[in-house]
Amino acid sequence: MKASKKDISSKLAGLLIQIHEGKNRPLIRRQASQLLSRIRPNDIAKAEHRLLKSGFSAEQVQQLCAAFVLMGVMETGKADLVRRLPDSHILRKVAAEHDLFRCFLADLEEVAAEIDRQSSLSAASPELMRLSHILEHLQGMAEHIAREDDVIFPMLKKQGWETLCRSIEKEHLYLQIAIEDLLKLRMAFQNMSFGVFKNQLTSLVRYIGPAMREHLFREEYVLFALALTAAQESSLWETMKTVCREIDYCGFHV
Ligand SMILES: [Fe+2]
Ligand SMILES: [Fe+2]
Ligand SMILES: [Fe+2]
Repeated sequence: MKASKKDISSKLAGLLIQIHEGKNRPLIRRQASQLLSRIRPNDIAKAEHRLLKSGFSAEQVQQLCAAFVLMGVMETGKADLVRRLPDSHILRKVAAEHDLFRCFLADLEEVAAEIDRQSSLSAASPELMRLSHILEHLQGMAEHIAREDDVIFPMLKKQGWETLCRSIEKEHLYLQIAIEDLLKLRMAFQNMSFGVFKNQLTSLVRYIGPAMREHLFREEYVLFALALTAAQESSLWETMKTVCREIDYCGFHV
């Protein structure tokens, strides 16, 4: 017999509590994958509401929802869902840009470590040139973020994925501030001592590396994986692609 909508949201709330309690993980993973293909956005909102009413904090609820999606997606073997899309799909371009950002992060960490090993550096040194080059590419992330904030997230929110989108949107703000800070630091190279420059560079890179990787992971393996599982019909994604085309988002400037 098909479970009613009410059953699904209460099953989901029950499962979120079990995840919180850390019980029988293999069984929970199986249940999560079964539930994942049947839930609709409203079910998540209702389950979240139940948990909030029973005393969980908003942050705990967000984390449990993300853990549920992740467990379900991993169990169904759909973890690489975004990667298996055709090249014409809007999320393929998003994921390809994510890959480039991961490469630039690795470059950034490499050059920051090289700079940290030096005892002095001239303004025209290859290390600083390389740093500037990488930062230019990271600045290109603004267009990627705009595409998500202005087109993808609003559409997903309309489908009901409000809470998950909201938590990921906040991260955009912090990432952009960190990139801005890196650019300001680079510009200020000649006006500060090399020791202070190195320390600030190291601490900014130590923040931005894990924060950005975590962000890209949560988008691909939680939010987009969930949205793709729930809304497989192509019209939603086609509409987003059309809007991006109208705004003229390109992505090549990354
Ligand atoms: Fe380049
Ligand atoms: Fe993002
Ligand atoms: Fe992204």
